[in-house]
Amino acid sequence: MSLAGDGGRHPGWPARLGPLRVDAGLVALRPPKLFDASAWSRARLRDRAYLEDWEPTATEGWHERNAPMAWPQQWSSLRALARRGQALPFVITVDGVLAGQITVGNIVRGSLRSAWVGYWVAADRARGGVATAALALVVDHCFGDGGLHRLEATVRPENRASLRVLAKAGFREEGLFVRYLDVAGDWRDHLCFAMTAEETSPEGLVRRLVAQGYARTA
Ligand SMILES: CC(C)(COP(=O)(O)OP(=O)(O)OC[C@H]1O[C@@H](n2cnc3c(N)ncnc32)[C@H](O)[C@@H]1OP(=O)(O)O)[C@@H](O)C(=O)NCCC(=O)NCCS
Repeated sequence: MSLAGDGGRHPGWPARLGPLRVDAGLVALRPPKLFDASAWSRARLRDRAYLEDWEPTATEGWHERNAPMAWPQQWSSLRALARRGQALPFVITVDGVLAGQITVGNIVRGSLRSAWVGYWVAADRARGGVATAALALVVDHCFGDGGLHRLEATVRPENRASLRVLAKAGFREEGLFVRYLDVAGDWRDHLCFAMTAEETSPEGLVRRLVAQGYARTA
C-alpha cells in the first residue's frame, strides 16, 4: 500500500517554488541538500538567542544539534519523510543563499488531507517579508500539487513575529492548546491557526499577497 495513497507517487514532491520578490530579496524554496550543512549551521549557531525560545526542547545542547555534523542526519531524515509522502521539507533561499527552512509535516491523507507547517528565517533576513512569502508559496503548493485540504500552524502567544506572519497570510485562529509542546525547556501553551483550501480560492495566497503589496512576482 502506498503511504501517499495515490499508487506510489508522493503528491507535491520534489518541488521548487517561487521566486517571489520581497523587501529582503528574491525568495525561493527548494528541497534541502547535503551541501547545505555549513550555511545552515552558520545561521543556526549565530542566531541561537533569536531562535531558541521558539524551538522544541532537545536532549543535546544547541551547539551539538546545530553543528555542521548534525546536518547530514537531519537532511537524511527529512529526505526519508518526503520520499514516504509524510513531509514537504523546504530550504528557504534569499537571492540564492540559504536563509531558513519551511517544513510541512505530519501529512495525513485519506479523508483528512491535513498537515502542520513550521518555519524559521535567519535573523539577518528577518522583517523583510521572507517568511510570509515562503508560507504563501507553500500553502498554494499544498492545496495545489500537494493535494492537501487543511494546514495548521501552532505558535506561542508570545511570538509576535510569527503571529504577524500568520495574520498577513490570512490564517484563522482556532483556539488555545494548553501546555501543548515542550519548547525552550517547558510545556508551552500554543495558539492554533488553520487554513483550508476553500479559504485561498479562487486566486490563491501568492496572488493575494501580491495584490496586498506584501510581495511582487519576480
Ligand atoms: C517568525 C519568523 C519566521 C518571521 O520571519 P520574517 O521573515 O521576519 O517574517 P516577515 O518579514 O514575513 O513578517 C514578520 C512580521 O512580524 C513583525 N515583527 C517581527 N518581529 C516582531 C516583534 N518582536 N514584535 C512585533 N512584530 C514583529 C515584522 O515587522 C513583520 O510584520 P510587518 O510586515 O507588518 O512589518 C522569524 O522571526 C523567526 O524565524 N523567528 C524565530 C523562529 C520562529 O519563531 N519560528 C516560528 C515558530 S511558530
